[in-house]
Amino acid sequence: MAKARATVFFCKECGYESAKWMGQCPGCREWNTFVEAPTAKKASPARGLGAGSAGTGAAMERRPQKLSEIQSAMEARMSTGMEELDRVLGGGLVGGSLILVGGDPGIGKSTLLLQVCRNLAESGHKILYISGEESLSQIKLRADRLGTFSGELSFLCETSLELISDVIIEERPEAVVIDSIQTMYREDAGTAPGSVGQVRESTNTLLQLAKGNDITIFIVGHVTKEGTVAGPRMLEHMVDTVLYFEGERNASYRILRGVKNRFGSTNEIGVFEMRGDGLAEVPNPSEYMLSGKPVGASGSVTACSMEGTRPVLLEIQALVCRTNFGMPRRTAAGTDYNRVNLLIAVLEKRAGLRLSDCDAYVNIAGGLKVNEPSLDLGIVMALASSHRDIPVDDSMMVFGEVGLSGEVRAVSMVEKRVQEAAKLGFTSCVLPRVCLGRIQEPPAGLKLIGVGNVQEAIDLIA
Ligand code: TYD
Ligand code: MG
Repeated sequence: MAKARATVFFCKECGYESAKWMGQCPGCREWNTFVEAPTAKKASPARGLGAGSAGTGAAMERRPQKLSEIQSAMEARMSTGMEELDRVLGGGLVGGSLILVGGDPGIGKSTLLLQVCRNLAESGHKILYISGEESLSQIKLRADRLGTFSGELSFLCETSLELISDVIIEERPEAVVIDSIQTMYREDAGTAPGSVGQVRESTNTLLQLAKGNDITIFIVGHVTKEGTVAGPRMLEHMVDTVLYFEGERNASYRILRGVKNRFGSTNEIGVFEMRGDGLAEVPNPSEYMLSGKPVGASGSVTACSMEGTRPVLLEIQALVCRTNFGMPRRTAAGTDYNRVNLLIAVLEKRAGLRLSDCDAYVNIAGGLKVNEPSLDLGIVMALASSHRDIPVDDSMMVFGEVGLSGEVRAVSMVEKRVQEAAKLGFTSCVLPRVCLGRIQEPPAGLKLIGVGNVQEAIDLIA
């Protein structure tokens, strides 16, 4: 007879399970990632997964169905009362979905979710906030900072998932917050809270609760130094939506980024500002990102990046100076280091700028991390402007991809970028010449300057 309770080994990175320890994981090829953990009791097969998410409650259909026969429950979305968050979610909360909110400790995850709970309760939903990290009086302290609360919002301090399941099934809230998954504990998983086995089993329990009872569950997850949600990457595979809350600790704005979304597009961002009374939405991030841009400084260029469907104007800064050592130093903050090196090589070869004996530093001001190719032209112009020590016109916005031959190539969503520039009062816009034809109605007051290669672009700096 098989032993009633065995231990298994699984990979910390990808969750690969094996009966014996292995040096290298066959799943993700990482070394030394196997940890031992007792197996949990096999849960009963997903309780009414199909029936629950379809919201019918009828017995589960065991035959294949045509698309036209399936009832859609995905239409009704709950608004979180925060436009920035709704957009990242793809238009609001989907019933029965599991949402992971990751981020560094202290970045504002609990604050964000408490505000979401307040908004949902105010609009008549029944909400339960479960904290394994703070006491009820600590939560009250935070709530007092945020303002008034009304509606059916209740709090529970608990870490045992067995108990939490019972409470959820009894109370039947529409949405639940679990703060945080690392503190949750299931007796039958054996190991300590926060370990891979516990996090995995706890998430599994929550997944079944969400799908089986049509409850939206937010899970808070702390991020480790390596930048993944503590412990297992596999958490990301299990949930429907993964949101990361990022930002510089000492700067007040926070960016909420969708990295996985079964119900909407990823790459959308929401911008918030941490204030004394909680998080405030920043509806116009461009204005925010450009505040503090120096006037008439060389090496500073305004560029445009698309974050999902929204154009965000930002400042690219470059500093080029003579190197004191044989080997020039290059750094890139907020954008791809290799891309910056490539653009420096293009400038050297195609525009004859002598940069091989210069240090070059490139920075996206404001701490936003962007990797869009449309920033290339901005980076090139910022480098050239700093090299010549001649400022780029402050009312000029620049975008375009740069190829290895020095050509300026087309980018997507030209019209949106141009309109954003006009909206913020820019008077000229440098863009790929091939994109000029795509603009149906050029905004009044904005001069469009098409360029075909980097030489033409840097000739504009004079
Ligand atoms: P918190 O939500 O506790 O972070 P997390 O749950 O991600 O660990 O946020 C804590 C930080 O936010 C803390 O440094 C104080 C700051 N804060 C404000 O600035 N204003 C506020 O109104 C609140 C509630 C927090
Ligand atoms: Mg917290």
